[in-house]
Amino acid sequence: MLSEDQKRSYRDNGYLVLPGFSSADAIQQIRQRAQTIVAQFDAERHRTIFTTDKQLDHVDRYFLESADGVSCFFEEGAFAQDGQLCVDKALSINKIGHALHRRDAVFEAFSCDRSIVDVARDLGLSDPQIWQSMYIFKQPGIGGAVNWHQDATFFYTEPITVTTFWFALEEATVDNGCLYVQPGGHRGPLRERFRLVDGKVSLDQEDATPWPTPEQSVALPVEAGTLVCFHGKLPHFSEANRSADSRHAYTLHLTCGSSRYSPRNWIQSKKDVLPQ
Ligand code: FE2
Repeated sequence: MLSEDQKRSYRDNGYLVLPGFSSADAIQQIRQRAQTIVAQFDAERHRTIFTTDKQLDHVDRYFLESADGVSCFFEEGAFAQDGQLCVDKALSINKIGHALHRRDAVFEAFSCDRSIVDVARDLGLSDPQIWQSMYIFKQPGIGGAVNWHQDATFFYTEPITVTTFWFALEEATVDNGCLYVQPGGHRGPLRERFRLVDGKVSLDQEDATPWPTPEQSVALPVEAGTLVCFHGKLPHFSEANRSADSRHAYTLHLTCGSSRYSPRNWIQSKKDVLPQ
C-alpha cells in the first residue's frame, strides 16, 4: 500500500522510487532465467540490434514479431567490421523483449505478483493490463545511451494511462547508466507517436516542445531491489554505461483497461493482470 504522501509525490513529480520492493530471491530467479534465455539464443540467425538512435532503421520482421515473443537484441557496438561478435554473446545483448510476461513462466510470475497489482491500483490503474516487458542489460563498454523519450509514445491510450514499472536488478548509478527524469515533466505534452500501420512503422512528431535541458533533469541512482514507477508522459533517458559492470533492469508497461488503447500501437497483445 502506498501512503498518501507517496501518491501525492507521484501526482506532482510523475515518478515514485520504492526502495527494497523486490526480494533478492525474486531478482535472482529472473536474472538466472534471463541468462538461460541468452544462452539458448541463436546469435547466428538473429542479428537485430537495438538502439534508440536511428531506431526506425532497425525495425525488421524479427523486431515486429518480438511484440508477442521472447527475443534477444544486440547492443549497437556488438559486432566488429568482419561481422563477428566483439565480446562474448552473454555480454553483447542489449535486451530481451517484449512479451516475457506472457511467454515465459518465470517472468510471468514475477510480473503478475500481487505487490505490483497493488502499486498499480494505488497509482490509479484500477484494471491494470501489461503490454510489454523488457529485460535490459545495459552492458558495460559497448552499449549506447537511451535518448530522451516518453513511453506513451509507444503505448498511446485515451486518456494516457501508460505507467512504467522499472525494477533495478543491480545497483544503478550515474556511472553505469541510471535513469534520468524531468520531475513534473509528465504535465507537458506528448511529443511523439510511434505508429504501426500496414506493417510499416513511423515515429511522428506531435508537439514541438523541446526535450528538457540538463538543468531540468535529475538522476535516479538506486539500489538493487528498487522499483521506480513513472508516468507515460514523463520524459526520461539514460546515459551509456561507462562503468566496468552491467546494470540489469526489468521493465513493464501497464495501462488501465478503462482507457482506449490505440490500434496503431505496435504491440497489440496484452495480459490482464487481474482475473477477468
Ligand atoms: Fe522509456
